[in-house]
Amino acid sequence: MADEIFVSPRKHGRIMVLISGRGSNFRAIHDSILAGKIDAKVALVFSNREEAEGLKIAQERGLETLYVNAKLYPVKEDYDQEIIRQARKRGIDLICLAGYMKVLTPMFCNEFKNRIMNIHPALLPSFPGLHVQQKAIDWGVRYSGATVHFVAAEVDMGPIIIQAIVPVLQDDTEEKLSARILVEEHKIYSEAVRLFFEGRLEVRGRRVFIR
Ligand code: GAR
Repeated sequence: MADEIFVSPRKHGRIMVLISGRGSNFRAIHDSILAGKIDAKVALVFSNREEAEGLKIAQERGLETLYVNAKLYPVKEDYDQEIIRQARKRGIDLICLAGYMKVLTPMFCNEFKNRIMNIHPALLPSFPGLHVQQKAIDWGVRYSGATVHFVAAEVDMGPIIIQAIVPVLQDDTEEKLSARILVEEHKIYSEAVRLFFEGRLEVRGRRVFIR
C-alpha cells in the first residue's frame, strides 16, 4: 500500500509547547515569532513540572501557562488525554516538545500524528534516549548534532525534519558539547516550525520533503 502523504498547513498557526525545564528551545521559537520569522502564536506553554524555569519565562512574556501534576493521573493515557483536551480547547495546530521529559503515549502520538515535533540533541537514529551528548563523546564519534523530528509512537524514531551537525572535539566535556549543540537546536527548531506553517513540510512514510 502506498504511504499516505501529509502536507503541513499554510496558515497562521497556534502552537502549544511542552516543557519540563529550562525552556531555552521554547524561548528560541518564541523569539523567532516575535521577530516575524514564524507566522504563529504560542497559545499555551504546558509543563509536567511546576518549577520548570521555562514556565516563568513564558509568564514574563505574557503567555498562557499550565502545569498539570502527573501524580494525579495514575493512568498515563489519562494524563495525555488531559493535555489533548487542553490543546483542542485552544485550537492547537502544532505541539512542540521542547525538553519535555515524559514519554508520550502511543494514543497521544496517533491523535496528533504529524502535528507533534520534538528536538533531540543528537543525530538520530544514533543516540536516542538520555545523556546523549556524553554518549557521543564516549563512543568517540567525530560528529554529533541535533535533530528535529515528528513524533511517532516509537520514542525518538519519528520522521526527521532537519538536522544540524556539530563536530565532537578531543577535549569536549558533556557541558561543552551540549552548549554547542544547543546553539544549533535553537536555529533548526525555529526553522522547522517556520517551514511547517509555510505549508512546506511533506511527510511520506518516514521521509520528510521540504517543498
Ligand atoms: C535540549 O537539549 C533538548 O534537545 C533536550 O533537552 C534539552 C532541553 O533544553 N531534549 C531531549 O533530550 C529529549 N530527548 P531546553 O529546556 O533549554 O529547551
